[in-house]
Amino acid sequence: MTRSLTLTRPDDWHLHLRDGAMLDAVTPDSAADFGRALIMPNLVPPVVTGDDAVAYRDRIMAAIPKGADFTPLMTLYLTETTDAANLVAAARAGIIMAVKLYPAGATTNSASGVRDINAVMPVLEAMTEAGIPLCVHGEVTDPEIDIFDREAVFIERVLDPLRAKLPELRVVMEHVTTSDGVDYVRGGGANIAATLTTHHLFINRNHILAGGIRPHYYCLPVAKRETHRRALVAAATSGDASFFLGTDSAPHLDAAKLSECGCAGIYTAPNTLACLAQIFEEADALDQLDGFVARHGAAFYGVVPNAGTVTLVRETAPQPVPRNRATAEGELTVFDPLVPIYWRVV
Ligand code: NCD
Ligand code: ZN
Repeated sequence: MTRSLTLTRPDDWHLHLRDGAMLDAVTPDSAADFGRALIMPNLVPPVVTGDDAVAYRDRIMAAIPKGADFTPLMTLYLTETTDAANLVAAARAGIIMAVKLYPAGATTNSASGVRDINAVMPVLEAMTEAGIPLCVHGEVTDPEIDIFDREAVFIERVLDPLRAKLPELRVVMEHVTTSDGVDYVRGGGANIAATLTTHHLFINRNHILAGGIRPHYYCLPVAKRETHRRALVAAATSGDASFFLGTDSAPHLDAAKLSECGCAGIYTAPNTLACLAQIFEEADALDQLDGFVARHGAAFYGVVPNAGTVTLVRETAPQPVPRNRATAEGELTVFDPLVPIYWRVV
């Protein structure tokens, strides 16, 4: 017997759409299932000013299939030379919804990011004053710190001291991957929230490294051990409004992933909702899925949930992983959760 599940049309609060041929190839996948997405600004060169965001939004709008109900919400990329007045004006004009902090060197296209948090304090103070949320890539880049510890150390060295200085700053800890991150957000009050990705609810570090190296599971922050994955699933399915979906769907061509120095990022936009329905069902928490994908994030960002809906059905047989996407520049592999997924969006 098939079961069906209708959700409020979801939001993706952390999405990479890229530019050019990749933008054209991936935008339809997000536009099919989501009503809105918060678009990450780590292009080369990055989206730094209000004008950059307007121009990028126009390119995204041109890539959305006709008739799709999808709105991109823009972010700016924080640099040590960001002009606070330009940023606040862009937020007041409704051009941007948030600002992204990348520690320089932490991840894909982060070279223009922040080396010294003190250098951006005036901008962060202006954001606090104006109520503009800061989205944080929460990993230190100190080569002395083991890559599996970088999130926990970021909380201790950067995030907690920053929030002690600016308790009114609204912060989203993006793509939390550890129980340390979950615990910090859970006890952190109304001005902090976290996004959780689809893939970190499914994979642990064994998926990347045991029995052969699997570049398609490499992303940043890197997946941690199984106890952390379980903490993420517990947070996502708990109904706690501090946690919401940000897929971090981050497409890279296969040629860039399957390389001697492969790129970080996993492409989950096509099958995110089906995967989430599966994992929420297994946690006996399908009733919490609507909050996680469509309500908690909207509440944090102060927007009303989308008016539309999306419906999934549970089939009696496992559904295939969506086929690889073809782009004008090469193939793009879709996330394989490696467990049977019975759900599909209709
Ligand atoms: C993202 C990308 O490719 O832009 N990669 C990733 O592994 N998540 C950047 C990011 O969000 O860290
Ligand atoms: Zn990302």
